[in-house]
Amino acid sequence: MKRALPWAAAFLLLGAVTVHAQAMLSPSAEACLSCHGPLPRPGAFPPLLTLDADATISAMVAFRSGARTGTIMNRIAKGYTDEEIRAIAEELAQIGLGTKP
Ligand code: HEC
Repeated sequence: MKRALPWAAAFLLLGAVTVHAQAMLSPSAEACLSCHGPLPRPGAFPPLLTLDADATISAMVAFRSGARTGTIMNRIAKGYTDEEIRAIAEELAQIGLGTKP
């Protein structure tokens, strides 16, 4: 039972980091993180906060044009202009690690 306590503390801390990261973002960038993170998640959602802005922009542009296929990102990317994609990518890169995986 005692061994569970450090884990509980770690999860509480993670929750606090999550809320803090999202509080600094615009609603558009926050919408991305509802699937992508902010912390790496297991499963189909690649972590976004490890991409630099250029990598996010080129992926979004490729999803939008159909050059890159996906399950859902093609539809999502169509909802954003170049300017919006750049703004979101820069915001995410700023709070992220700014390094490619
Ligand atoms: C409904 C869940 C969902 C939302 C919301 C979402 N994504 Fe994604 N994203 C995915 C999935 C799933 C993939 C994997 C490709 C696919 O299947 O479409 C992906 C892939 C990506 C990739 C490629 C990552 C890599 O490592 O190659 C980028 C970049 C990306 N998304 C950016 C965004 C941005 C920017 C937003 C907000 C405008 C966003 N996503 C919103 C689910 C989501």
